[in-house]
Amino acid sequence: MKMILGNWKMNGVPADLWAWSESFKPQTNNEIGLFLPYPLLNAQPMQFKVGAQDLSRFEGSGAFTGEVSADMLKSMGVSMAMCGHSERRHVMGEGDDLVKTKAENALRAGLHVILCVGEKLETREAGSSNAYVEAQIAASFPANAADGRVTVAYEPVWAIGTGKVAGEDEIAAMHAHIKDVLKRVAPGQNIAIVYGGSVTADNAAAILKTQGVDGVLVGGASLKPGPFQKICEADEA
Ligand code: PGA
Repeated sequence: MKMILGNWKMNGVPADLWAWSESFKPQTNNEIGLFLPYPLLNAQPMQFKVGAQDLSRFEGSGAFTGEVSADMLKSMGVSMAMCGHSERRHVMGEGDDLVKTKAENALRAGLHVILCVGEKLETREAGSSNAYVEAQIAASFPANAADGRVTVAYEPVWAIGTGKVAGEDEIAAMHAHIKDVLKRVAPGQNIAIVYGGSVTADNAAAILKTQGVDGVLVGGASLKPGPFQKICEADEA
């Protein structure tokens, strides 16, 4: 069974989600999750898991205008939270410490954490991807993680939204490296590793069959129900 995760980013209004849900009827045993913008999290009852794309560094409630806490998400039936997506790291400037704090808050509230890591193009070209990703994991992995509560998403920044998918060899090599790093950072924990970055209905089957790939995180191709459904069913076709 694979994990197929969609990430709508800052897209969609309730009418879009209603229309999407009307035609999204995958026939699959894979585990499906959809990361929606906050206003859509409760817009529609879902047949699968719903996740938030971010959450507050602050716990509980209080005078933190504009923030949404892990407990609030949990109370809405949200079961997962994404932490450290590359857009949050590189566009919004979130560092490893902040990502770690958010992940720890999410776990404390009972949410499953998708911890995103991945190198930029210049890092890959300099041959330092392994060291870079290892450092990201070491510094942002939540200290309160328990077995099965965290999934790592490997998303090379240069592959996100660019149509430039990582090669299967590159994916297999990095997933093996991450697995190795996790043995040291989170000994004894069973941690799935998913790939993200320009996954489409056309390349999903090959990626899902790649060694060490437990699932995919899909941005652009999750916005339309047809392609996302194909991705959900890709390894079973
Ligand atoms: P993409 O985005 O599939 O559009 O490349 C992936 C992601 O950012 O999670």
